[in-house]
Amino acid sequence: MNMKKKVLVTREVFDETLAHLAQHFDVSSNQGNEQWSADDLVQRLQGKDGALVTTSDRVDDALLSRCPQLRVVSTVSVGYNHIDLDACTRHGVMATNTPGVLTDSVADMAICLTLATVRRLAEGERLVRARQWPGTHLKQLLGHDLHHATVGIAGFGRIGQVIAKRLRGFDTDVLYHTRHRAEAAVEQAYGASYVSKDELLARSDILILILPYSPETHHFIGRAEMAKMKRSAVLINMARGGIVDDAALAEALRDGVLWGAGLDVYENEPRVNEALFALDNVVLSPHIASATEPTRQNMAMTAARNCVAALTTGVPPNLLNPQVQATVSRAG
Ligand code: DGY
Repeated sequence: MNMKKKVLVTREVFDETLAHLAQHFDVSSNQGNEQWSADDLVQRLQGKDGALVTTSDRVDDALLSRCPQLRVVSTVSVGYNHIDLDACTRHGVMATNTPGVLTDSVADMAICLTLATVRRLAEGERLVRARQWPGTHLKQLLGHDLHHATVGIAGFGRIGQVIAKRLRGFDTDVLYHTRHRAEAAVEQAYGASYVSKDELLARSDILILILPYSPETHHFIGRAEMAKMKRSAVLINMARGGIVDDAALAEALRDGVLWGAGLDVYENEPRVNEALFALDNVVLSPHIASATEPTRQNMAMTAARNCVAALTTGVPPNLLNPQVQATVSRAG
């Protein structure tokens, strides 16, 4: 008898996602959203052929060495810095992600977090909820405008480009910096001008980070970079924790080196640098940039389809390490 392959889903997903996987596999899922240690994860993954993981699951050599049956790790995210791709390739494991389906929602959230920060929305909400609002007056909670601001975008992939598109509606000047400059036609379509990193830092009233995390982008914005920004500037991190030095950011916000910040991601999530809690000029959002019902549904289903294709045809869409197919062909 042909035994069904086994798949582990490490976090709660939608019923539709499970139903799709269950058409092909014997599926176990963490529908109770229990917090698993790295060791729990390894133990549960042993004997599994596939895994649907999230950004909080670290997939590295140590894990893969202990799960030799694993053939695919399908992350329900576009970012994949939690997966060691080289280790996956060495172990003959396909790694996949979910690009495209979350672009618009993340771009929307970039605008949301920017507006919340420049207009001091969270601070105002705290005031009202604390029943300490004395009534409106002329100089209360004065913020900055997004309209007509110079907005810098660091990272100009799919999401960065859609953020630029959204920003046109606010009559902003959009600057961008990225490793590989975009084609002139793309710059023109999104009304964005390429500048050096230093120019981006110096000219941006608002700087939105949406670049991938890697050892090269670790602390892309640290103390030295903040010192090059305007004292009136606002920093928005939509990308990944670790791209900003959060300790240096807390100091910069406290000392007036920067005016404000909006963070959707943190170094060492889910922990948040304690110094940030003491500050009113930072908006803290819990890594929810893609968290709308339809987008999360799409992400989970895309990850499920990746997993099915990987284990049935060996050719999943959104394969992050195509070299693996040369290393070993074990699907079927
Ligand atoms: C992503 O898709 O990388 C997001 O950060 C996860 O929510």
